[in-house]
Amino acid sequence: MEQRQLIDLLNDMSLEEKAGQLFQVTGDWFDGMEALEQTGPEAEESARLRKSYGHLAGSVLGVYGAANIKRIQSAYMERQPHHIPLLFMLDIINGYKTIYPIPLAQGAMFDPEFAGDCAAMAAKEGAAGGLHVTFSPMVDLVRDARWGRVMESTGEDVYLNSLYAKSMVEGYQRQQGGTDFLAACVKHFAGYGAPEGGREYQTMELSNGTFHEFYLPAYESAVKAGSRMAMTAFQTVNGIPATVNRALLREILRGKMGFNGVLISDYAAIGETVVHGVSKDGADAARRALEAGVDIDMMSGVYPEYLVGLVKDGILEEALLDESVLRVLELKNWLGLFEDPFHGADEAREARTFLCEEHRKLAYEAAVKSFVLLKNEDAILPLSPNQKIAFIGPYTDSRDMLGSWSFTGGAETGEVKTVRAAAEEALAGWSVTYHTGCPVLDPGIVLEGFDRYKPSSATQEETDRWREEARKAAEEADVVVMPLGEHCFQSGEAASRAFIEIPKIQQDLFRAVSEVNPNVVAVVFSGRPLDLRVISERARAVLSVWMPGMEGGRAIIDVLTGTRTPSGKLPMSFPYCVGQVPVHYDSLMTGRPYRKGKPERYVSRYQDIPADPLYSFGYGLTYTSMELSEVRLSKNELMPGEEIEASVTIKNTGKREGTETVQLYLRDVTGSTARPVKQLKGLKRVTLQPGEEAKVAFSIGEDHLKFFQKPGLWDSEAGAFLVFIGTDSRTEHSAPFRLKKQEASENT
Ligand code: GLC
Repeated sequence: MEQRQLIDLLNDMSLEEKAGQLFQVTGDWFDGMEALEQTGPEAEESARLRKSYGHLAGSVLGVYGAANIKRIQSAYMERQPHHIPLLFMLDIINGYKTIYPIPLAQGAMFDPEFAGDCAAMAAKEGAAGGLHVTFSPMVDLVRDARWGRVMESTGEDVYLNSLYAKSMVEGYQRQQGGTDFLAACVKHFAGYGAPEGGREYQTMELSNGTFHEFYLPAYESAVKAGSRMAMTAFQTVNGIPATVNRALLREILRGKMGFNGVLISDYAAIGETVVHGVSKDGADAARRALEAGVDIDMMSGVYPEYLVGLVKDGILEEALLDESVLRVLELKNWLGLFEDPFHGADEAREARTFLCEEHRKLAYEAAVKSFVLLKNEDAILPLSPNQKIAFIGPYTDSRDMLGSWSFTGGAETGEVKTVRAAAEEALAGWSVTYHTGCPVLDPGIVLEGFDRYKPSSATQEETDRWREEARKAAEEADVVVMPLGEHCFQSGEAASRAFIEIPKIQQDLFRAVSEVNPNVVAVVFSGRPLDLRVISERARAVLSVWMPGMEGGRAIIDVLTGTRTPSGKLPMSFPYCVGQVPVHYDSLMTGRPYRKGKPERYVSRYQDIPADPLYSFGYGLTYTSMELSEVRLSKNELMPGEEIEASVTIKNTGKREGTETVQLYLRDVTGSTARPVKQLKGLKRVTLQPGEEAKVAFSIGEDHLKFFQKPGLWDSEAGAFLVFIGTDSRTEHSAPFRLKKQEASENT
């Protein structure tokens, strides 16, 4: 449709119809279909409201499948007064049918482009299944491993998150114009990743500078990449719920960032501003949200209940309603729904697209690239065929490795190959035994609210027998591989944890095994950085595999045997223990910094634990060894408009091929505000054969030196800088340069 036609359509719509376009229902509203996934609380009030207004709703949440969607779309459009098609939206977070690693694991790839390819694949499958919008990418910066949704983020670094945000939006929307694409929805605007205490839905309290410099840029990166939707966050920003926060939504998101797409609330978030104690009642919440520029009410029902009355009573201008309705119509038009309301949904297309070989290979490659080798004492890895190997641990046989946002992929299906199944296929002729060892979770632990979670049914007698069997197997093996970790539903939404170790029952198994056999290789499944002190101390190798998706089993075996080599890097620091949280590499410089090896009393440290995390941002080993030369700079003075080349020579000094990610960090030695000890400003993956070396060069310009001065103004300041180039954020490999600026007096 042409814009003119959209405006004519808008002008021909009744007030009720307009309000309906700004309202979303779940699938259960339509012909009794069960909501295929309830992803939020079902408030009584919203259930009543949805029932009474669903026939005018403009979009649907949680329905999927070409047959379902075509049936609902056809029936709905027939009844809709202007036959306006519905928008179908869903959380496709790490795949639709072909489930690949969770976003935190994708962050560990240090390869945003590859994450973009995964997003494009997910869009192709989701579109075949009838979807129009995915509620992804989630670009919330995270520094607190207690928060369950760190699994959905790409980590603690603003530069890396911004690269991923851009790449994933472009990936979802890559095939725009055909049918193999989805509209992206960047979320959760803004600052949702910093809840106090790491406790879900809690208040965010950040300084203005930190909020603007670290937490906002990745959203802007998604907006600049063309994300067609954005979603508001549940929590307050400066004391006002994001969903009714005009300064945040109108001035920053739509004003400074230039977002002109559709803004949707998070689940029931508009109505919940009454519970926040900020909106007086539903009508007040509806007014505030629309005035703040929220276009669609997800599941609270206050829009269809109150907007018509608010306009009729002259409290809201109809023009404000029209502005939102037009954006919704423009999105439907951008998707081509007025010409093809099914957006290519087709059962035959589903059959040839879902889980096809090309997609499974992508999921496999993503898994291999995401694994982070944290320890490999005496190169105990890779394993070799002449060893007797025992696999002992609950993730030997578990399919639950898809992450908590994978309900469309389904771990229950045979599509997910377990570690054991992958090993039995790949290790023919090896001497291998397999033992569950213990349930994933301690008896009595129930992860309430996760419909697909099935508590372990192991009796005490079974658990004791498993333990004894494991101990004997460990005694007889040369090497024990222990696939263990937190349950996949111990991370995700509403899954904050105060203690971030692996379940106690698994810790007991780990101790029992490592007491009879020191040659333990721990394969750690998690949706967050865990407290791995005990495991790291006793195991001779530790491989973090996150929640690796449906090809995870095969990828794990191929990395353990050296068929593939690990190359992942930590996108988020692993704290020494939960007492250290929040912990992140790019903290601001302080007046009494802790200096390793200089035990002083009056410095920034703990009395009872080290100051540094157990494993730092950007860290990850390979199966070889790499050596970096000193940092070379093309010059040591930079004028605006010029560039400095910073480079190193990297050499593979080991015996195996390796892929290393060389990282560039900068430090602004003196600024008008305290600057981070270092900040990631570049990364390059390089694969080298044994003995091979290569030059890795980065270009540094003034833009790399700019930082937040005030809303709408980022600028650099003349003075001294340090360039660090290394293979993780702890590198001290550096060289100095100065930025010279005509007018400014130098921060010497
Ligand atoms: C949830 C999540 C959000 C998700 C939405 C729809 O509460 O916060 O990320 O996209 O509801 O499922």
